Order: sequence, then C-alpha cells, then structure tokens
Amino acid sequence: MCGIVGVTGSDNAVKILLDGLQKLEYRGYDSAGIYVNDQSGEDYLVKEKGRIADLKREIGPDVHGSTGIGHTRWATHGVVSVDNAHPQVSKDNRFYLVHNGVIDNFQELKSDYLSDVPFTSQTDTEVVVQLIDKLAVEENLNAHDAFVKALTLLKGSSYGFLLMDREDPDTLYVAKNKSPLLVGVGDGFNVVCSDALAMLRETHDFLELMDGEVVTIKPDSIKIEDKDGNLVERDTFHVDMNADETDKGTYPFYMLKEIDEQPNVMRKLAQVYLSETGEPVISDKLLSSMKQADRIYIVGAGTSYHAGLVGKRLFENLTQTPTEVHISSEFAYEQPILSKKPFFIFLSQSGETADSREVLVNVNAAGYESLTITNVQNSTLSREATYTLLLHAGPEIAVASTKAYTAQIAIEAILAKALGESDNQIVAQRFDIRQQLGLVATGIQAIVDAKSEIEQLAKDDFLNTSNAFYIGRSLDWSVSLEAALKLKEISYVQAEGFASGELKHGTIALIEEGTPVIGIITQAKTAGLTRSNLQETMARGAKIITIVSENLAKNGDNIVLPEVDELMTPLLSVVPTQLLAYYTSLHKGLDVDKPRNLAKSVTVE
Ligand code: AGP
Repeated sequence: MCGIVGVTGSDNAVKILLDGLQKLEYRGYDSAGIYVNDQSGEDYLVKEKGRIADLKREIGPDVHGSTGIGHTRWATHGVVSVDNAHPQVSKDNRFYLVHNGVIDNFQELKSDYLSDVPFTSQTDTEVVVQLIDKLAVEENLNAHDAFVKALTLLKGSSYGFLLMDREDPDTLYVAKNKSPLLVGVGDGFNVVCSDALAMLRETHDFLELMDGEVVTIKPDSIKIEDKDGNLVERDTFHVDMNADETDKGTYPFYMLKEIDEQPNVMRKLAQVYLSETGEPVISDKLLSSMKQADRIYIVGAGTSYHAGLVGKRLFENLTQTPTEVHISSEFAYEQPILSKKPFFIFLSQSGETADSREVLVNVNAAGYESLTITNVQNSTLSREATYTLLLHAGPEIAVASTKAYTAQIAIEAILAKALGESDNQIVAQRFDIRQQLGLVATGIQAIVDAKSEIEQLAKDDFLNTSNAFYIGRSLDWSVSLEAALKLKEISYVQAEGFASGELKHGTIALIEEGTPVIGIITQAKTAGLTRSNLQETMARGAKIITIVSENLAKNGDNIVLPEVDELMTPLLSVVPTQLLAYYTSLHKGLDVDKPRNLAKSVTVE
C-alpha cells in the first residue's frame, strides 16, 4: 500500500512527482524517493526516510528532468531506511523500479537467479530490478522484453510496477497485478499514479489497467498489452473531481475536516439516492437480484466491517432477510457454509483492500452476484462487483475513516428501505428514510458544533490513560467496536469495544482506578442493563462517561444525542467517539492524519 507516481514528457517532472507523492502520502509515509532523467544524460536519484517534506529537503535546485518515477513507502520487506526506500536500482545503475505490493517468491528468485549479484537493500523489489537487468544483459533482451520475462517468474504476487531504463529514458514501463495503478492521459505528456487524486492538477482522464497487463508509455503514446502480448484498446474514464477537494483548507488535520463534513454527506446522499418524494432511487436490477437472495453476506475490513455490523440490523429489521457480516481476511480463507442463494455486499472506502478483493475473486469464481459500496469510482472492488453504489463522501484522506463509515451506514439504510418496501415489508414502508437522514444531518451538526465539550473530556480523561473501554449492547456494541478502533489507531491508547453484558465474565478484571469506561446508550430495551454494567465498573474505580440518546438521558450524562430512530442512532453516537479520538491524538501531539504503522488503503493481504 505504497504510493506510485510517474511522468514522461514534462519539464515540470520533479514538481509533478512531488505534488503527486504528497497526495498519495496517506498510502504509506515511512520513506520516499524519486528518479528523474532529462533525456540529455543528466539524471538524479534522491531518496530519504520520513515524509515527502523530508524528501523535498534533499532535492537540490539542480535536480531536473522530463521523465521520472516516484514512490512513498509503507514497509513490508526490510526496515525503514534510505537503502530500502524506492526507487530500487539495478547493480549497473541502468534500471530504476518502484513497486506497490508483495513478491511472494522473492527469496527463491534471489537464490535461483541472483546468487552472484550484490544487493544494497532488504527489499523484495530489488530482487525484481536485479532480475530484469540480469535477463537484459545475459539474454540480450530490450527493457520491455526483460520486464515481461521477469514478470513471468513472479509467483502469487501482488504488484504495481513502474520501471525506467536509463538507456531509453523517455519511456515508462508499467505492470499491474492486484495492486491499483492508473495511467493519466495528458496533452504531450502522460502520467502514472496509484490513485487519480495524485494527478488531478495534470489531467482528469485516466486509463484503468487490468491484472496481467503491461503498458509502454512515451510522451505521446500509450501501448497496452494483455498477458498474452495482444494490443488492447481502451477508452479513458473522466474523474469529475476538483483537485482542491483534496486540500484540507484551514483545518489543522484532514480528520477534523472529514468529521465536520458528515452533515453535508448525509444531505448529498439524500439528494443522490432519494426521489423528490423521499423514496429510495435504487436500480430495479439490483433490487431484484437482492430480492432473490435467501441470505445477505456483508464483507469488509476494519471500519468497513464495523459499518457492516450496523447494516445487519438494518437489513434484518427492514427486509426480514437473514444477514451475516464477515471480516474479509477470515472469509477469504475460512468460508462458512453458504446458503443456496447468497447475495454479497462489499463495504470498502478505498475499493482496493486486498483482503476484500480476495473474497470478491472467490465470489465471482462461484458465479454469485455482488454489490460494492465504495467511495472510489472505478476502484477494483467496484469494477469487479456486479453492482456499485458510491458513497459520494468526497475524498477521505485521513487514515482514520470517519465520513465513509457514516456514509456506508446511510446507504445500507436507504438500500434496506428500498428492498423492504419492494417486498412490502410494513416496517420498511413506515420507515421515513428522508426524515431520518434530515434528522441525522442536523443531529451531527449539533454534535460537531459542541466539539469543545468533547475536547475537554479528552483532555481530562484520555491523555494519561493506557487503556479505555467502550461498552454497549446490540447496535451500541457495534458502535463501541468502531469507537475503540478510532481511539487505538490514532492515539495509541489500548482500547476495547465490549458487549457490556460480557464484561463481568472476565474483562472487568482490567478495570483499575481511573480507567475510562464509555457507555453508549441509544437502545431503550437495553439502556438500563448498560447503566448497571457501567455501575459495576464504577464500583471498581472506573471513570464513567456516557453517550446517550435524548429520550434515554438522565442527569449527569456527559453527551446527549438528538433523537432519531433507534436503527439510525449509530450515525450520531459514533461522532463524539470520532472527536474523542481526534482530540486525544491532537493533545498527545501525534500526527492525527498519519498514525504510525498504518496506511489508508491496505493493498496487501
Ligand atoms: C479505519 O479507520 C482504518 N483506516 C481501516 O480499518 C480501514 O477501515 C480498513 O483498512 C478498510 O479499508 P476500506 O474501507 O478502504 O476497505
């Protein structure tokens, strides 16, 4: 889940590469590098540990070129170091390679073909560039043929490769398997990028690439070959997004901007997916496919999996269709016994998560129909599913997902309403989704407008704690899991989301004097039970914080949420937990948007 950029045919190559890498930094940010060539014998390789800002400091005013490649890294093989940063270089300084993915058989390749080659890094990527060089020299192959031959020797690997040959400096060679990579079409120049966001200042027209394809790019030509070497013609797709949408404006961090954008995201979803009269506008083909299903299987990872847990309640309540939710990395290799007519829903903000894609490959191979709910147009999980519903949430840059979570739940609610109604389910007919989305939008607005109170809670109770517990029952438990993930991933506080009734069966042993225990209470049926579970922890010294729906609130409750239908409460109750995580990270002086060890889009299994 590294970020790759490339350009050929522009005297502005260094700036285009660095701006592109800046936009892709959410994909990995432990080290970076560029290689540029000016077509007249001058070329420059610059690599540095840390952020793109650190790399920029290493790039002198003399560094220039019209063709180049760049990379920002999320380490998989080899420690974070300048030697392990990309581009990786062949021993004779002829070939330069950047890579996103994992080469499974790199050790074998190294011992079988490269035992006499001195290595300067610990990376799997260097094995590939040394192999290309070896094949070119020993079998007298040109760069293209050496590249293609080397690819045939890679086993079970995921890769996005971008290669340059010093002896053919205006050409970029691209290959892709499982990892996302696009070609951007310019006027007299062309670019390559892991995500269109990186090149929106240069072009809005992109070519998607299929697994196994090899692309040869020059300033004025793009040649796509399929895995058998046949030429492929393909139309570009237009990315209708303004480059400024990816800027954080006056916000200190993208995460706070994205939390604040949630009310408008709810309104946008109502605009896109509801008719004038408030009825869902979902394709008949999708609804009829789902109606034939005897069971819905929701699949996702991390926050998307958590959004699926809420979706289960929405589908079962509004459609009476049995619904299961699965973690994609488990489902990919430990598939349960499926029902006769399953329908699969993939939740993925990025649309590129390798674990989820592995399940979709199996689902397609079995001939089942599927829907991907994603924030990225033309992403792999969107392209390969039968149907797609877009989140219309705008780019989500912060690693900690926020607006994508609420948008996924809102779309699940709209879809469940549509499916339930198309099946004459009374509950669905009575469920006024437009009214609810309106209440949710104003409700979230009220919460973010009062964010300073939540900031104070974070300062008082979370800065000096090593652990914390979110507890709740049914939907509140689902939100507790998401709340704990947010706190863990950006503030490094060991947190757990817990079914509150389960605490007394063991985990309550972890409660000490001052341990924050946050109770989420939005479900009338179980509100009293969660409150007594909170009391049990308070009796053992816990510091209690409550997030409660207005209709269930009592004196002393910390955060009171505006009232909405119980099925929609996760869209409100999660927001204070997003802000608690944000302010805890902020006041611990951490990089809220780029937490250690993480990346936004996880494209390796
Ligand atoms: C959430 O904040 C994390 N970034 C992570 O758990 C994420 O939800 C997970 O990697 C799934 O990503 P996706 O939605 O893009 O598939």
